[in-house]
Amino acid sequence: MVTEIDNPIIAHKLAQLRNKNTSSKIFRELVKEISMLMIYEVGREFKSEEVTIETPSTSCRVKILHEENFVVVPILRAGLAMAEGVLKILHGASVGHIGLYRDEKTHKPVEYYRKMPPNLDEKVLLVTDPMLATGGSSSAALQMLRDKGAKKIIFMCIVAAPQGIEKVSTEHPDVSLYTASIDDGLNENYYIIPGLGDAGDRIFGTV
Ligand code: PRP
Ligand code: URA
Repeated sequence: MVTEIDNPIIAHKLAQLRNKNTSSKIFRELVKEISMLMIYEVGREFKSEEVTIETPSTSCRVKILHEENFVVVPILRAGLAMAEGVLKILHGASVGHIGLYRDEKTHKPVEYYRKMPPNLDEKVLLVTDPMLATGGSSSAALQMLRDKGAKKIIFMCIVAAPQGIEKVSTEHPDVSLYTASIDDGLNENYYIIPGLGDAGDRIFGTV
């Protein structure tokens, strides 16, 4: 269940995101905008409910989403900027946070924070992290959510390496994975190539 979103507007914004001369302020805005555009595509798999409402002239059947059934789960730090974009569309969603960083030497994820809303088993979880490199961080986050009872999980990233896709789809075959790009691979430091550098540093200006 891997979808590489093919959309000229997203591709145009991703091109700016990759450019090393893009400032932190613009980078943050672009991540948010790409996430808003991605959720439009992801939303095709959401289940609507048909209800009757009154327009000023008559009654009619309409399709609605129960926004309160969605939980946006950013993987800190970089996932925060994506979550902002998703929440601009799904205003009624709640937010759970998972703090993870990739150890610079071992490249393995280290958890430092966790706060989730209750009843995850009844919710649709939208996990956000712009970068899927080795897949260590996202796979650990997805496992934690499973252990907390989550059933329906959608993972959204902006750039994915084939290695990360392989790991997540093998370890979490029932998670829908959406990315704006499947890149070529990883370099010797496990950074995505061509990628866009360190997403967290570029979003928060900590380079
Ligand atoms: C980055 C990124 C992912 C992870 C991807 O976070 O946002 O969470 O690395 O790498 P992986 O697939 O090999 O695990 P980082 O550890 O740099 O933390 P940050 O968001 O706080 O900068
Ligand atoms: N984390 C990032 O921010 N970028 C990469 O390319 C890999 C991991």
